[in-house]
Amino acid sequence: MKKKWFAFLSFMLALSLLLVGCNSDRASKSGGNGTRLDIFSWWTGAGEEDGLKALIKLFKEKHPEVKVENAAVAGGAGTNAKAVLASRMQGNDPPATFQVHGGAELNDGWVAAGKMKPLNELYKEEGWNDKFPKELIDLVSKDGNIYSVPVNIHRGNVLWYNKRIFKDNGLKAPKTFAEFFKVADQLKAKGITPLALGDKEPWTATQLFEDVLLGTLGPDDYKKLWTKEVSFDDPKVKEAVKTFKKMLGYINKDHSSRNWQDASQLVGKGEAAMNIMGDWAKGYFVNDLKLKVNKDFGWVTTPGTQHSFMVITDTFGLPKGIKNEDDVMKFLSLLGSVEGQDTFNPLKGSIPARIDADPSKYDAYGRLTMKEFKKARITPSLAHGSAAPEGVVTKVNNAVNIFVTQQNEAQFIDALKTAASELK
Ligand code: GAL
Repeated sequence: MKKKWFAFLSFMLALSLLLVGCNSDRASKSGGNGTRLDIFSWWTGAGEEDGLKALIKLFKEKHPEVKVENAAVAGGAGTNAKAVLASRMQGNDPPATFQVHGGAELNDGWVAAGKMKPLNELYKEEGWNDKFPKELIDLVSKDGNIYSVPVNIHRGNVLWYNKRIFKDNGLKAPKTFAEFFKVADQLKAKGITPLALGDKEPWTATQLFEDVLLGTLGPDDYKKLWTKEVSFDDPKVKEAVKTFKKMLGYINKDHSSRNWQDASQLVGKGEAAMNIMGDWAKGYFVNDLKLKVNKDFGWVTTPGTQHSFMVITDTFGLPKGIKNEDDVMKFLSLLGSVEGQDTFNPLKGSIPARIDADPSKYDAYGRLTMKEFKKARITPSLAHGSAAPEGVVTKVNNAVNIFVTQQNEAQFIDALKTAASELK
């Protein structure tokens, strides 16, 4: 009897230890019993994380009762974060909330997979339905439901240039491809690297290519590429490929060992004249290199894209299966508020997603970009997941990466066509 009693006690002890272990394990995981709000993003880089940190600080001031964890995973454009996120989602261990681009990445990805909860009520309660541009709400909606909150709008078709190099060489920032190549030849002749690229992570070259596509096809036909109304063997695409190839003749030799910050650094420090990058580069120039807008560096839209706006919107939503929904809702409320947006965006380099934000909080670049956004034709970025689902983006990234080294136009077009065959 005694023996049995002892065995029973030992069993209960083991069980309770196991349960304690499970609980503390769960508590230390995402969404654990309302204990921690883990905010998942890829904003760890110089310049990028300033905005995120300011937002988290503001949130903590307003909600000291919530424990927040900055769960960012390094790598531009989500190079590594997206894989980590996919495995967490697959393992039913979603972060409390995560960065996701509006457009295909959200809608054909996590929403289509049934992993997200609609936020229509939150939009109603906060009175947001007329505070974000309709086109933006459409980008984060599927079948009449809204699935995330846009914290910003980034512009992808920007050419940044070093003001001193341009001034010293009597050059004007190029607005067309013809002007670009003229300026690039003059710089090359003087031994200056005309165009900085850092395609260690291949998305940067894809972004350059999509800007060339936009500048060559114009916004209507560019958009039709993603609805299959224009094919990748269209003569204009072939022309864009030739232009892209020609541009690659002006880049820094060590492009494949640099990331986007390293490439921007070349321009910031006067070791290259121009780079083509989204306006998170401005956040990097200002916050990390301590450069001044319009004094140390200038900008123009990429060749031929003056009236278009390659839009990239970072958004956060509410995954299914988390345990601290209330805390996530508090965070999303702040993210979508004027105060939240005006805290984050001036540091991040982006403009606010809300139409009623305060322009005086932004620098000259931000103020002009806010104005231009209202007039420009909006086009979705492929490199940043808005134009097409992740599978297509990955295939195009691979094709671009091969093209940068091999420069075989026919092979590239074929690879693009294969990628596009996955479009719906
Ligand atoms: C984009 C993202 C930006 C910026 C950039 C570089 O995909 O939308 O916010 O982080 O990647 O990492």
